[in-house]
Amino acid sequence: MNVLVVGAGAREHALTWKALQSPLTDAVYCAPGNAATAAIAVNTGLQATDVDGIARFNAARDIGLTVIGPEAAVDAGLADRLAQSGRLVFGPTKAAGRIESSKAFAKSLMARAEVATPAYRVFEDPTSAKDFVRGERRPFVVKADGLAKGKGTLVPRDAEETLECIDTLMLRKTVGAAADRIVLEEKIDGREVSLMALVDGERVVALPPACDYKRAFDDDKGPNTGGMGGYSPVSFFDDDDVARAVETVLRPVARVLREDGTPYRGCLYAGLMVTPSGVQVLEFNARFGDPEAQVVLPRLVDDLVPLLVATARGDLAGVTPSWSSSASVAVVLTSHGYPGSYQTGYSIDGLGTLEAGILAFHAGTTAGATGYLTAGGRVLTLVALGESMAQARERAYRNVDRISFHGVTYRRDLALRELSAPALP
Ligand code: GLY
Repeated sequence: MNVLVVGAGAREHALTWKALQSPLTDAVYCAPGNAATAAIAVNTGLQATDVDGIARFNAARDIGLTVIGPEAAVDAGLADRLAQSGRLVFGPTKAAGRIESSKAFAKSLMARAEVATPAYRVFEDPTSAKDFVRGERRPFVVKADGLAKGKGTLVPRDAEETLECIDTLMLRKTVGAAADRIVLEEKIDGREVSLMALVDGERVVALPPACDYKRAFDDDKGPNTGGMGGYSPVSFFDDDDVARAVETVLRPVARVLREDGTPYRGCLYAGLMVTPSGVQVLEFNARFGDPEAQVVLPRLVDDLVPLLVATARGDLAGVTPSWSSSASVAVVLTSHGYPGSYQTGYSIDGLGTLEAGILAFHAGTTAGATGYLTAGGRVLTLVALGESMAQARERAYRNVDRISFHGVTYRRDLALRELSAPALP
């Protein structure tokens, strides 16, 4: 089977790497892919949102399965188009993908599915939003309704900062039309965990939970980023917690989408807050998480391709993937200044010196004459597995130390909180 992976990041590098291990796979193509996927697969030059081009490529190369990585391709209607032409596609339709592309839609869907989520209000003009905050005299999480490349959620400390955040999104238009409508959401405390699942329209097969780190600096300081690293499994979210979240969150949401005539097929990602009074949903993503995919896929013992095919065909009955008991830790290496402005074009040294078993998934790199050069804010995700979280973490950072490029920056506290947690089974 020919497989097409859509997207250009470290998540898509991980999907490509795993799909290539399948005996079912003849060739893996990427749209567009990145410098590292060019070395192991075939980059097509097609952009992820080039729906016409990808549809033509599907027919020309007889693609047996297209795997959609980024939300922009979901929102461009890629799955709709490929399904219309009889092609198998892993990833939701544009309508089902509204669970990510409209925060207000996701909130109303959760209300209908009776899924616990923080209280919220939707506003379409900044004056009413600010009047509401002044009346409440407390802070709210401010979310752009639309897709904003990870820059649409602002978490102010007090009411005054909340007013500032409303101006940032709605008046200064930092994320453009995505914030023509905003959601003000009650701030809640707890521990965040990402739960991804394969959903075939009806059935839900949970993947192991993972944690990601969104803030740029240690101790969760600094601005929000596209993700600075992560780990899996998660000591404070065990198998019982996963089973409960499947019953109370993922299945109800999949049921309502099916009843609406927009069944969800693909990876459904729930961003959960674990609180003393139970789990609340902060967000849904209509795709694999990044860097969650990079820590979860290396733990998959089974062949990924049949799982994705079964999901796309609506045929997950009886499917129970096997997962390694190993822990995994991912460290994202970034360019200095990210997520603000940064410079690129620096030589990346040490990739050839990584220990056996260490995975280096590329995001912002380009191939130079003598090796890879930096080409983005998030440059590489380095992933290590270990028999314990401590071992995985130690391996990850030992190998991070072998990589160098001008201005290399990363968090040093990833998975640290797990070291005082109970040992893995
Ligand atoms: N790790 C969060 C995301 O993929 O959006």
